[in-house]
Parts: sequence; structure tokens; C-alpha cells
Amino acid sequence: MAEIKACIFDMDGVLVSTEIYHFKAWQRLTETLGFTIDEKFNENLKGVSRSVCIDLILKHGGLQKTQEEKDALAAQKNKWFLEYVQTEITPKNVYPGVINFLESIRKAGYKTAIGSASKNAPLLVEKLGIQSYFDAIVDGNMITKAKPNPEVFLKGAELIGVKPENCVVFEDAISGVEAAKNGGMYCVGVGSPQTLTKANFCINSFTEMSIDRFSEL
Ligand code: BG6
Ligand code: MG
Repeated sequence: MAEIKACIFDMDGVLVSTEIYHFKAWQRLTETLGFTIDEKFNENLKGVSRSVCIDLILKHGGLQKTQEEKDALAAQKNKWFLEYVQTEITPKNVYPGVINFLESIRKAGYKTAIGSASKNAPLLVEKLGIQSYFDAIVDGNMITKAKPNPEVFLKGAELIGVKPENCVVFEDAISGVEAAKNGGMYCVGVGSPQTLTKANFCINSFTEMSIDRFSEL
């Protein structure tokens, strides 16, 4: 195996518990459209851009909308998501073990980056006060191709000057695991191995993670 030199982290659902607020906002939106979505369907929405989510949701509900209508729906969902973020998200929402792991890998000389599909990532990173733990942050405003395309992670690797094969990606989304693998990177799934079947291995929490576990890759 190639030597690991850098860790690239997805944000929503990996560093911070925001996926629940994306889900709640999408549920509210689908209710206004006359149908509902469940957690199983929500797995398809994780990791992908807001506009791709709209397309998946409309297809799921058997609806067709104009681009203008889709933009309005996306804006409404984002308004609700940001309301949740403003009222619910503080530095306490960073998942257990994340800060310790970041500190230990940075001390050991590994580079670190965020690779997120979210256009709200800069706001979240600031709200959580975690900016200083990363050498680079790539967010949804900087990319054009949604996961499972590897663009977001390849850009992260480029910005920190590490080859893809020397990067390990931490991901909670099926599309994100596929993006990492499509980019030629190792992938640690954050969640269930039954869902994240293509990950090299899975963890439930960063409290289980250490540099030693890189040897399992
Ligand atoms: C991803 C989330 O990180 O970002 C998705 O997993 C979300 O649920 C996507 O849809 C886009 O986020 P945003 O904040 O740009 O709407
Ligand atoms: Mg995620």
C-alpha cells in the first residue's frame, strides 16, 4: 500500500452532526410538495450537491418542475437548513474524537483538508471554530461536479500538495465513498459497513480512530 501522508475529511456527517438538519429541511420541502422521504431514501441525498438533491427528490415524488421552480425550492430548503444551523449548531456539535484525532495527525506531520459538497461549508467551519485544523478547505462553491465525481477530493489533494494515492478520505455518504475511490484514494467510512460497502473499513466514531489504524488500509 502507498504511504498515507494526508487526511481529507468530508464535513456534514463526518466532522459535525449537520446531516439531520439537511434531512429535516428536505422533509419539510417534500411535505409542501405532497409526499414524504424516509431515512433510507435520504442516504442518496448525502454527499451530493443541492441541485442534484432537488432532481433526485422530484424524481422520487414523480414531479417535474422548471429550472426556475427548482431554484426556488432549493432556496427554500437552504433557508430552513440555515435556520436550524443558526439555532442548533455550536462548537459542541463537532463529533466526539474529531478534534483529538485532528490534533494527533497534525502533530505527526500529516496534512489535513476538508472536501465538502456544501456551499455552506465556510459558514459552518467558522461557526464551529475549526478552520485552524486544516491546510485547505474545498467546498461546494469551488467545484462543478458532484460526488461520486472525485473533483472535490482531487482539488483538496492538489491544494495540500499530496498525491491522491497518499490520501485517506473520511466519508459518511455512499456517493462520497465512491468519489474517494474514483479518485484513487483510500476511504474510511464513517457509519455502517452495510451502507458504505466500498469503504476500506468503517468506524462509528473518531474515538475509535488512530494513526495506527492506517495500517489496516
Ligand atoms: C453535503 C451534504 O455535504 O452537502 C448534503 O451531505 C447536502 O446533504 C450537500 O445536500 C449540499 O449542501 P448545501 O449546504 O450546499 O446545500
Ligand atoms: Mg457527509
